[in-house]
Amino acid sequence: MHNGTNVHTHEHGHALGAAGDRPAIAAAGVNLTFETADGPVHALKDVNLRVAPGDFVSFIGPSGCGKTTLLRAIAALEHPTGGTLTVNGVSPDEARRARAYGYVFQAAGLYPWRTIAGNIRLPLEIMGYPRSEMAARIDKVLALVELSEFAKKYPWQLSGGMQQRASIARALAFDADILLMDEPFGALDEIVRDRLNEELLSLWARTEKTICFVTHSIPEAVYLSTKIVVMSPRPGRITDVIESPLPKERPLDIRDTPEFIAVAHRVREGLKAGHLDG
Ligand SMILES: Nc1ncnc2c1ncn2[C@@H]1O[C@H](COP(=O)(O)OP(=O)(O)OP(=O)(O)O)[C@@H](O)[C@H]1O
Ligand SMILES: [Mg+2]
Repeated sequence: MHNGTNVHTHEHGHALGAAGDRPAIAAAGVNLTFETADGPVHALKDVNLRVAPGDFVSFIGPSGCGKTTLLRAIAALEHPTGGTLTVNGVSPDEARRARAYGYVFQAAGLYPWRTIAGNIRLPLEIMGYPRSEMAARIDKVLALVELSEFAKKYPWQLSGGMQQRASIARALAFDADILLMDEPFGALDEIVRDRLNEELLSLWARTEKTICFVTHSIPEAVYLSTKIVVMSPRPGRITDVIESPLPKERPLDIRDTPEFIAVAHRVREGLKAGHLDG
């Protein structure tokens, strides 16, 4: 991987504004079946979806409905067994080669023997970035998640919420335009989660990235998203796609407004409907 081309592609990665209204992600009739020793597991069924550049999309649905599978398919970590899936107009594999994604896993997954800066540097090292550029990128993403003073600390010296912010910083280091986040705040208490939700929204507003976010929390999905995708139990189908009527500017107490409560209600109905005809 230590070749010059990699470093290059990435230099051109920014000229994406000219893409017009090309969707960031487009799924048409996507099916995904895992072949297992116990027979096939139908994880995704006829998934149709369009995500515009700059959207904040949440995926919500019961455990095992295929949310992680869908995210992994978008990241080219799984391959659909039917239908078509494109990212920035090309196949997920091509998008991956062009470094279209940052991926934040459910557990922070930081290496305890590396400092915070060292953890963020790791994927950049693997990709063979020049030293000076690595340093500049690390400074920038640490500032974005407000962890600049913690660059030299080890993960175990940080709180759980700070570790999650560090793992978000690591995913941001490539400056990919799509950020895939799989229940990044699932393990945190509600107060920390509220704060990180606010910070994530402001980060999204500042960076104009496209974010695909998996969650089990209805308030979290409604608070964060421009688009909420409700999924049914396995095989995962989309039961509802809700375009949020909420303004982009969202103080936490927007959660007490009738508009917010109405969207939350519709998500709940979608989850119920999925259960009934599943
Ligand atoms: N590599 C795999 N091989 C076989 N089956 C798999 C594999 N990965 C996922 N599955 C199955 O596919 C289905 C969907 O799994 P997935 O992890 O996408 O669910 P999820 O919606 O993310 O659930 P959760 O909310 O619990 O994280 C499950 O039935 C799971 O057992
Ligand atoms: Mg999952």
